[in-house]
Amino acid sequence: MTTQQDIASHAPLASLSRDELATFLAAKQEEYAALRQRGLKLDLTRGKPSSAQLDLSDRLLSLPTTTKDRSGADVRNYGGLEGLAELREIFAELLWVERDQVVCGGNSSLTMMHDTLVHLLLHGGPDSPRPWVQEDSVTFVCPVPGYDRHFSMLANFGIEMVTVPMNEDGPDVAAVEALVRDDPSVKGIWIVPTYANPSGAVCSQEVAAALAGMPAAAADFRIFWDNAYAFHHLTEEEAKSADVLTLAAASGNPNRPIMFASTSKITFAGAGVAVLAASAENKAWFLKHLSMGSIGPDKVNHLRHVEFFGSADGVREHMRRHRDIIGPKFAAVDEALTTALGGLGVAEWTRPSGGYFVNLDVLDGTATRVVALAKDAGIALTPAGSSFPLAKDPRDRNIRLAPTFPVLDEVETAMAGVATCVALAAADRLSAGR
Ligand SMILES: Cc1ncc(COP(=O)(O)O)c(C=O)c1O
Repeated sequence: MTTQQDIASHAPLASLSRDELATFLAAKQEEYAALRQRGLKLDLTRGKPSSAQLDLSDRLLSLPTTTKDRSGADVRNYGGLEGLAELREIFAELLWVERDQVVCGGNSSLTMMHDTLVHLLLHGGPDSPRPWVQEDSVTFVCPVPGYDRHFSMLANFGIEMVTVPMNEDGPDVAAVEALVRDDPSVKGIWIVPTYANPSGAVCSQEVAAALAGMPAAAADFRIFWDNAYAFHHLTEEEAKSADVLTLAAASGNPNRPIMFASTSKITFAGAGVAVLAASAENKAWFLKHLSMGSIGPDKVNHLRHVEFFGSADGVREHMRRHRDIIGPKFAAVDEALTTALGGLGVAEWTRPSGGYFVNLDVLDGTATRVVALAKDAGIALTPAGSSFPLAKDPRDRNIRLAPTFPVLDEVETAMAGVATCVALAAADRLSAGR
């Protein structure tokens, strides 16, 4: 990931004289009025695959071609709680774990994370002194910016959230260690280790090792290792996810990490397969609780995914087809922002090498205004602050851009409009301070 900042094509807005700034502001007001006139209706809110991406997996609609898995079991029937062995093998290879550590479930990894959290709250983990609900309070460390649904899930259970910075190589280890070392109420951290939502950061081996091995006051401290974008490369240089299960086991904390992933942005977002990988003890614990609510997963779906991919290499090849579709959209975001904002000193944005998002930081105190301006011009953006717990961005500067769903032409139009809104809000604010 690289950050594009202050390309010297414009003079920094803060360096302009009062008259120059007034001229710039007037020009942007005119540009914005013209933008509103166009009556656009564009949406850059959620990280969803586009129709063209979904089309890549349409062969699934005519699979499977058989009703039996490799062991001869009839996939139409009950049973097989941990999922089809051949699919677990494919994911084990992709996630650098062992097949025996993997559970394949329904279509949503978020549901598996939710289930895991509920079981921890109601029953405690294998190494918990008591169920988490019996603690006076439970706190999670939240690297920011982060995924809004992680935060809303924690908030929904009354779990406290403390933030730490998400750096380019993962969460700020010193900040995490300081929170976790002495306070047994700090029970977990949520990490998107590869091409993080929304910053695109990739957790390095060193950071992963430090988090896996750090001293924690809570014996049942958990790392929710949400590897939703593990295979979603945007360049030829494919990031390798750290093997956090092995790192944790090697440092004597085998139950600390629980890994999640899914094919939501590989095959069908609404009909893919979700995956959990964990230590033998954690896996047995998860399956025990899962068995209270399920006799087995949708193995027909598992089998059709096995037939569709064939192997881990089949998944890798499939992801290159996604890259061909979405790569130009990410390039269009960068180009629009660079052309309109480069050098103005009022915005920074990421150029991720994978994942689904661009992280845009605008002038402090203007993100809410930018989103409102865009909305009035018919461009829907994720609400400002969404990437922070309780949607509270202390600097009101962060905006998450999701360019995958609209067609390329719409991404170009929307992003030119967003850039106008960013420049207008910044010029307004700077003028007010003069
Ligand atoms: C980081 C992250 N985790 C999980 C999900 C949802 O995963 P699933 O579709 O498997 O429930 C998303 C979707 O945007 C995501 O960005």
